[in-house]
Amino acid sequence: MTTHNLIDFDADTKSFHLHNANISYIFSIDEHGVIGHDYYGRRLNQYHGQLRNPQRDRGFSGNFPGTTDRTYSLDFFLQEYGSNGNGDYRNVASVIRQADGSRAANFVYQDYEIVAGKPGLEGLPAAYVENENEAETLQVHLVDRVSQLTLTLNYTIYRDFDIIARSVVLTNASQKTVNIEKLASMQLDLPAQGGKQVLSFPGGHVNERNLQRENIGHGTKVFESRRGTTSHQMNNFIVIVDQQTTEFSGEAIGVSLVYSGSHKEEVSKDQFGSYRILSGINDDQFDWQLDPKEHFQTPEVLLTYSANGLNEMSDHLNGLLRTRVARGQFRDEVRPIVINNWEATFWNFDEAKLTPIIDEAKALGIEMFVLDDGWFGHRDSDNSSLGDWNIYEEKFPNGFQHFTDYVHNQGMQFGMWFEPEMISIDSDLYRAHPEYMLKVPNRQPSPSRDQFVLDVGRQEVRDNVYEQMAKILDGGKVDYVKWDMNRNLTDIYAVDLPAERQGEVMHRYVLGLYALLEKLTTNYPDVLWEGCSGGGGRIDTGFLYYMPQSWISDNTDAVDRMRIQYNSSMAYPVSSMTSHVSVSPNQQTGRMTPMETRGAVAMSGVLGYELDLTELTESEKLVVKEQVNKYKEVRELIQFGHFVRLINPEMGLGNRYAWMFVDDTADEALVFSFKILSDAQPEFSTLKLAGLDTNKTYQNIETKAEYGGDELMRAGLYEMFEQADFTTNVYHFKAL
Ligand code: DGJ
Repeated sequence: MTTHNLIDFDADTKSFHLHNANISYIFSIDEHGVIGHDYYGRRLNQYHGQLRNPQRDRGFSGNFPGTTDRTYSLDFFLQEYGSNGNGDYRNVASVIRQADGSRAANFVYQDYEIVAGKPGLEGLPAAYVENENEAETLQVHLVDRVSQLTLTLNYTIYRDFDIIARSVVLTNASQKTVNIEKLASMQLDLPAQGGKQVLSFPGGHVNERNLQRENIGHGTKVFESRRGTTSHQMNNFIVIVDQQTTEFSGEAIGVSLVYSGSHKEEVSKDQFGSYRILSGINDDQFDWQLDPKEHFQTPEVLLTYSANGLNEMSDHLNGLLRTRVARGQFRDEVRPIVINNWEATFWNFDEAKLTPIIDEAKALGIEMFVLDDGWFGHRDSDNSSLGDWNIYEEKFPNGFQHFTDYVHNQGMQFGMWFEPEMISIDSDLYRAHPEYMLKVPNRQPSPSRDQFVLDVGRQEVRDNVYEQMAKILDGGKVDYVKWDMNRNLTDIYAVDLPAERQGEVMHRYVLGLYALLEKLTTNYPDVLWEGCSGGGGRIDTGFLYYMPQSWISDNTDAVDRMRIQYNSSMAYPVSSMTSHVSVSPNQQTGRMTPMETRGAVAMSGVLGYELDLTELTESEKLVVKEQVNKYKEVRELIQFGHFVRLINPEMGLGNRYAWMFVDDTADEALVFSFKILSDAQPEFSTLKLAGLDTNKTYQNIETKAEYGGDELMRAGLYEMFEQADFTTNVYHFKAL
């Protein structure tokens, strides 16, 4: 037995055991060199190699290439990573078109190594370690002996996070070019075990991340984006659960792809009831030419296991995302409260219109002014100027510096909006470089919001964008950048690639984008970067590596936001989600909600305001001032504490949402409880808290009432809501 701290290899049973205090992940090499999956779940203190793939002669399940053993078939074998054309008829992780046109490969075990820590992924975002003791990485090398392609399966297990990071590298050690038609980042085969379900997060613009929970029946469920970005329509995060799994109990396996392009998650149940989960780059429009000596690195997948429900899964995942995926100086800093002018003015602003909003923001204690879309070129609507990142001088008649000085002289920070990946036909950039745009020769490109996509897969395009942005940022006056993207990719064609490489364009786009983000965030480390894609169109763990926070929806309606934030918290830390108080009636839904409720929802993320503050009544201003002061007091707890989801409408409580924040020591807790629609005869329901210490006594800091931790968690609180729609209760407890 070779024993490392976190990964053991047992030479007798030829099995690898990755473990930390809570989880075990086990797989083994069999007599054919196939890597069989054995176990993923709660920590096993002893594994004697008894649980191995069973064998059986089954009709129509063919046998291992070149053998006569009728009981051995890849058609039902649980594998770590499958390939095509060897008798496994399920969805396969890899499809490689060999030089002879065949699509067969049979990867078998060659050797392995275990390294301390976690190596980075070439050109791609990934979870990292701050010192080598935090994790161990196992690299298992496989080979297809016929083609001399090698496959490295990477597994990192963290000591203090219940996370296994996986990715794959395919290397062409042959003399011939091959094509990758599909290369998933991960395959996870699970044995038949009752009825499993899958949670996915579908949606649309201003309707992101609904929660869909479905039984996994026979056949395949595909959750994907073909849009070149993560998409509003389907996030690249899924969860595999048991039928009885709840927020607080049962098994949950989170699968998060660290990638910002087209993705595909496949969940299937085979003829014998076993499950297969695949996640990776979407094979739609993907065809990557791999020349001799080249290799291809897939994005990473983060697997999270919890035996105690969805809250624990999210807490483990989000702990890692917040501290070992997000980077930069703002990772651990409390984030400023912003006023953003978008919903206040749209494009219709100038310095004279903005300065009163800034004055009011300062008076209310807001800390940063963010100048949204419309400050550049001659942009007065969405049909021009993308690509021309120079100041729209008529809007700033005293000079732009005068304006940014004004903001800074108020003691506030200054932020700016960019949409760097885009080009308008009406732009100097298009007039000078029409060839920078993604476009198929001799075809009319498809507009979306009257705009087109720059091919940032190309170095010269990236350089142009970088230099234009650097000119603005070098002024040294910009404290924050909001990086927006308001359409998806179409017209997939790169003018600098030959015909046989056009299947690489979508992924090269993402790699180019990452290269640009790496350069900008490295060279401008003092800027707080915020991601955005028409709200939450590119919320993913890849973007989080470059930008510690994102605008998660263009829907600012407090009631819709309850759902969007609740569901997003399954996969993303609160510190990464910005949320703004906007005007009532809301601009997206027309719904009227009280300022208190709008504030409570926005305070449950990284708080900001996005409305014309000069139009608030005096009493509304008082409420805003209180919110701002309260948020400053509690934002460390909110942004860096543990988030616990308590109630959502799908739990049979219809009308209700509730969640809470608890610090590491369970000394402080802040609870937000919402009732959506009022009723004449409300029921007397109790709200049970979670995450507290049963041995501590807590005091409600407003009412001074005292409670035991066990009392709050087991007996709960009777809740009374105001007789009105969209009401909120907030409880702030401190341990005595
Ligand atoms: C979409 C963003 O999500 C909004 O917040 C705003 O920045 C607009 N784009 C501006 O065009």
